[in-house]
Amino acid sequence: MATERTLSIIKPDATRRNLTGKIISRFETNGLRIVAQKRVKWSKADAEAFYAVHRERPFFNDLVAFMTSGPIVLQVLEGEDAVAKNREIMGATNPKEAASGTIRADFAESIEANSVHGSDSVENAANEIAQCFGKDELVG
Ligand code: CMP
Repeated sequence: MATERTLSIIKPDATRRNLTGKIISRFETNGLRIVAQKRVKWSKADAEAFYAVHRERPFFNDLVAFMTSGPIVLQVLEGEDAVAKNREIMGATNPKEAASGTIRADFAESIEANSVHGSDSVENAANEIAQCFGKDELVG
């Protein structure tokens, strides 16, 4: 297994309910290290650019509205097999399908307000990290 980096977002439904610390604790207790982190509020243009791959999906406009509705926490997580490990810790996109003990099973409100985002491949992780952080913001 290789050491990887993945992009994580703690979404507005989670920051609104003061769940940031509980979610971070899941990453750290499962062996992922936070090598970059910042709390921001995205503009419409930020959210549209980040989720550009979903532009044609019926939920795109709602997703952009939701992701700009409050503060989010952007993170880079590092560790062995970090992309897959983070997806395991998060659980399925739809909280109704998420395995018990995962972040989404425990905290998500709906498929849209699903508390966290995580990159789905090493290649996408590199692109998402570059979109969200400058090189000098990553401190391993
Ligand atoms: P995320 O991992 O951030 O990537 C795209 C997001 O779109 C996804 O999590 C969901 O929160 C959101 N979304 C809203 N509706 C749907 C849907 N029907 N199918 C997939 N993703 C959806």
